[in-house]
Amino acid sequence: MTKVFSGIRPSGKLHLGNYLGAIKNWIELQDKTDQAIFAVVDYHGITTPFDPKKYRGQVMDVVLDYLAAGVDPDKALLIRQSKVSQHTELAWIFNTITPVSWLDRLPTHKEQLAKSPKYNHMGLLDYPVLMAADILIYKSNLVPVGEDQMPHIDLANEIAKKFNSMFGQTFEPVKAKLTEGARIMSLQDPGKKMSKTPHQADPLTASKGDGLGAGQAGDDSCIFLVDTPNEIRLKIKKAVTDSGKEVYYNEEEKPAISNLITIFHMLSGKEIKNIEAEYEGKSYADFKNDLAEVVVGFLKPFQEKYNELKKNPDYVMSILIKSEEKAKALAGSTLKEVKEKMGLE
Ligand code: AMP
Ligand code: TRP
Repeated sequence: MTKVFSGIRPSGKLHLGNYLGAIKNWIELQDKTDQAIFAVVDYHGITTPFDPKKYRGQVMDVVLDYLAAGVDPDKALLIRQSKVSQHTELAWIFNTITPVSWLDRLPTHKEQLAKSPKYNHMGLLDYPVLMAADILIYKSNLVPVGEDQMPHIDLANEIAKKFNSMFGQTFEPVKAKLTEGARIMSLQDPGKKMSKTPHQADPLTASKGDGLGAGQAGDDSCIFLVDTPNEIRLKIKKAVTDSGKEVYYNEEEKPAISNLITIFHMLSGKEIKNIEAEYEGKSYADFKNDLAEVVVGFLKPFQEKYNELKKNPDYVMSILIKSEEKAKALAGSTLKEVKEKMGLE
């Protein structure tokens, strides 16, 4: 039985990287699996700088993004992580069997610390343990994510194995499902991944207008799913390119153009070699103009649905409440089993 779980932090509006690296996979999976649960992982989101005044809105924005992108409430549960308290309860239990040395060596932890050195707290170190709990509380075995999340999936398996060996067989192995071309890079620096929180300032210490919400409006490195057609055209126009002027795919020689070709390929469905052939003898500018129209056209139905949902907050809330009730029942039964095995019940 295939059970899918995935989550995204509500640290800003979703961008093309999130869509192509994560959500596209989810939409395909929800039709084919026995259980699909997609979460806005709001407890993960507070491990890095965030603005309490904006946070609730950010969570709801991501919920709208999910629904507009095609998460179907008849096929999948759509939940806010913090509303299903069994996630954090199981994380606590996992904390008691997870060596610190499994956590402080993780590349994601090191990267986050480098970005926000002041946020050197337990929550950041413990982030992957909560992620393991998110997955295992539903006995999920398939997790669609981008490749940057692989170390976390490995860790979830280590924790599951250790739990099984200490308290008896409870959890099955978890597999990641990586999307093709999972890594979409920044339009301004193809050496970095497209990211909604590139240099977010600490809201508690930042002066007004000081970078908080960078990764939102005005960020040229990132195409948000709700960007207007003109914003999209401008961002693609300003996207950095490589030396030379030929449009072909080669990540080493042409990292910037290769990234743009990947986006073109994934949104239009055209094969990369056909895209190369189409732009032989044409300029970067021709290619970028067409790419902009591909992106604009692709996002149009998404945006129509998003605007429709935005007008119906009660409907959106009813989806969340129903999903969270069902999720609590599933999570409660795993937690009960875990506690019984540990002599806690
Ligand atoms: P984050 O925005 O870091 O919370 O990531 C949410 C999901 O989107 C995760 O599954 C990531 O692996 C995926 N993701 C984020 N940024 C990118 C990107 N630039 N390219 C591909 N996938 C991404
Ligand atoms: N760590 C993931 C990310 O940054 C988000 C996440 C939290 C997640 N819990 C999860 C993803 C469980 C998949 C399954 O993208």
